[in-house]
Amino acid sequence: MISQHTIEQILSRIDVIDIVGSFVKLKKRGTNYLGLCPFHNEKTPSFTVSPAKEIYKCFGCGKSGNSISFLMEHEKYSYVEALRWLANRYNVEIEETETSPAYKEAQQKADSLYIINNFAQKFFSDMLLNTEEGQDIALSYLKERGFNDAVIEKFQLGYCSRQRDAFAKAAAEAQYNPEFLLKSGLVVTRDEQLVDNYRDRIIFPVHNQTGKIIGFGARIIGKNDRAPKYINTPENEIYIKSKILYGSYFARQAIDRADECLLVEGYTDVISLHQAGIENVVASGGTSLTPDQLRLVKKYTNNLTIIYDGDSAGIKAALRGLDLALEEGLNVQLVLIPDKEDPDSYVKKVGNEAFRNFIAQNKKDVVLFQLEVSLKDAGNDSVKKSAVVNRIAETISRLNKAEDFTKQQDYIRQCAGLLHIDEAGLNALVNKFIRDRVTKQENKAQAAELNARPENAESTPGITEDETLSLLNKDELVERNITRALLEFGTYDWGEEQKVYDYILSEFDSNSLHELFDNKQMLLIIETYKTWVQNGVDPSPKSFLYHENIELSTLVVGLMDTRYELSHNWKEHYDGPMPTREELYREEVASTLNYLKLRKIKRLIDENQRDLEKLHSPEEQLTLLQTHQHLKQLEIELIRNQGAVIFK
Ligand code: GTP
Ligand code: MN
Repeated sequence: MISQHTIEQILSRIDVIDIVGSFVKLKKRGTNYLGLCPFHNEKTPSFTVSPAKEIYKCFGCGKSGNSISFLMEHEKYSYVEALRWLANRYNVEIEETETSPAYKEAQQKADSLYIINNFAQKFFSDMLLNTEEGQDIALSYLKERGFNDAVIEKFQLGYCSRQRDAFAKAAAEAQYNPEFLLKSGLVVTRDEQLVDNYRDRIIFPVHNQTGKIIGFGARIIGKNDRAPKYINTPENEIYIKSKILYGSYFARQAIDRADECLLVEGYTDVISLHQAGIENVVASGGTSLTPDQLRLVKKYTNNLTIIYDGDSAGIKAALRGLDLALEEGLNVQLVLIPDKEDPDSYVKKVGNEAFRNFIAQNKKDVVLFQLEVSLKDAGNDSVKKSAVVNRIAETISRLNKAEDFTKQQDYIRQCAGLLHIDEAGLNALVNKFIRDRVTKQENKAQAAELNARPENAESTPGITEDETLSLLNKDELVERNITRALLEFGTYDWGEEQKVYDYILSEFDSNSLHELFDNKQMLLIIETYKTWVQNGVDPSPKSFLYHENIELSTLVVGLMDTRYELSHNWKEHYDGPMPTREELYREEVASTLNYLKLRKIKRLIDENQRDLEKLHSPEEQLTLLQTHQHLKQLEIELIRNQGAVIFK
C-alpha cells in the first residue's frame, strides 16, 4: 500500500488545472476554467474546473469530482493507479507502508517481474533494430509483412536471437534472479542451464491498461509446422491470461472516443489496424471472452464489434462468451472478413477507408448470426433443431432489462422468422427462462435477507445530487450545513486553544451522533472526520476530497458548491465590503450547530409529549413534566442564541 505520507505529498502537489488540462482544453472564465466536457458530447462548454476548490463539475451531464476521480473516470485507472500516475507526474517517490508479509512478497514478486520484462523488452528491441542478425532475419520479415518503423516502435516489437542463450546471459550478467527469470517465462532450464525460451522469434510485448509490460507473445519467423506459431508467457503473478486484452493500453482513448471496441484475434491484427489509423481495437488471442475481459471492455464502451476471419476456429470461442456479454448489457456485433483474409491482411489489402466501410456495412447482430450458424449445423435433425430453439430462447431471455425490452421483442420476432416457428411460442419459451431465473434469484435473495442486518436495509443508491436535494427536507439541510461547515472550517480557530472541530465534535460525544443525524452519508463524513482527529490528524477538505473511498469523496464534492465562488466577482463589482463565508465562519458554525441542537430538543419535546399522553403513575407523570419544562427552557435558550447569531 502507498503510505499516507506519500499520499499527502502527492495531494499537496496536485494541480487540478494541470491534470484536467492535460486531457481537456480549458479556458479561464473568472475564477474558474471552462472547457468541453470529456464525458459527454457537447458543442458549448459546460465543463467547469475550479482551481480553488480543486474540483470539476459538468453542468451538462452532471459529472463531478476531483483530480483523482478525473483520472479514474477518464483514464479508467483504479485509485491506486491514479495515485501512481500522479506520483510519476510530480516526481514524488512512492513509499510503501508495511503490509502483511504475504502481500509484500506478492508485491515484490510482481515488481521483480515488471523489472525483468522491462529489461527484456529493451534487450529484444535492441536486438531487432541494432544488430545485423535482427535486421537481416526479423526486421526484414516485419518490413516484408508491411509493418512500418513507427508502429514497430509504438508496440515495442523485438527479436530474440537464434543463439541458445543470448538473453539468458545478458540477464545473468545484469544479476537478475534466476527464480524470477524462470517465472517470467523468458528462459527455461536445459541441461541445468538457463536458455532462451523465445529463440529466433519476433517478440510482441503485452502491456496492461497502464502500459506496464506484463508478458510477451513470441512468433516464429516465417512458416514452420514443427513448432508452435506463438509461445506466450506462462501464467504468473502479473500475467493473468483471463484478464488480458492485447492492445488495451493503446486503444483506451480511441475506444472512448468511438464509443466502440473492435475485437480481433491476434497481435498482428491489432498492430496493422493501428498502422491504418484504426486504434479502437484489442485482441483476445482467439480464446473465448472471460468475465474479466468483458468488464474491461465495459469500462470504456457498451459496443463491442467482433472482427474475425470467416473460417477461423476462434469464432466459436468468441461466441461462447456471448451470453455473458449480453447479460452485461453489451451490444455485440460481428463482422466476418472474407476470402481467407484476417483483419491484418485485409486492411493491408484494401486500406483504411475500404476497411472501415466494410466493417460498417457488414456488421451483423451476433445473436442472429449465432442462430444462423447453429441452424446450418443442425440441418434437418429435429432433435438438434429443438436444442437450437432452446438455446436461442435462453440467450434472448438474458436481455431482460427494461431498456432492452424492445430489443428482446425484436429478437423474438426475427428469430421466430428464421426458425419458422410461431412467435408467440418463442415468446412463451423466453418468458419461461426469465421466470426460472427470477425464481432462482428470489430464493437467493431470501437466503441473503435472513442473514442481513436491519440497519443495512436503508440506503438510496443511484440518486443524483439534484434529486437528493429536492428530496431533502429542512432537517436534512441542517445536517448538510453542519457537515459542510466542519469540512470547510474545521481547522480554523475557535478560541481558547480550541479549533472549530473541537467545538463541533464536542457536541457529538458518545452515541449522540446517531441520534442527531438521520442522513447516513453525512454521518459517515462526520464519523470519519472524528476518527482522524482522534488519531491526531488535522483533516483538511483535501484529505476528504481525495479520500480513497470514492463514495465519500463524491459526497464531499457534492457538498462543496462552486457557485459560492461567484462572490469573488461580486466583490469586484461592488464597492462596499461584502463579508465572505470565510470571514463569517464563526457565525456560520455557531448557527448551524444551534439549528442542529434545536432540532434535537424539539424532537425530545415531541417524544416526551407523546409519552405524557399515555397513562402513568403520578410520580412518572411528574418526572415527565419536569423533563418537559427543562427541555422547553433549553429550547428558549437556543432560540435566543440563534437570534443573537442571526440578528447580530
Ligand atoms: P500472423 O499469422 O503472424 O498474422 O499472426 P496472427 O495473429 O494472425 O495469428 P493467428 O491468426 O494464427 O492466431 C491468432 C492469435 O491466436 C495469435 O495472435 C495468438 O495470440 C494466438 N495463437 C496463434 N497461434 C498460437 C499458438 O501456436 N500458440 C498459442 N498459445 N497461441 C497462438
Ligand atoms: Mn494473421
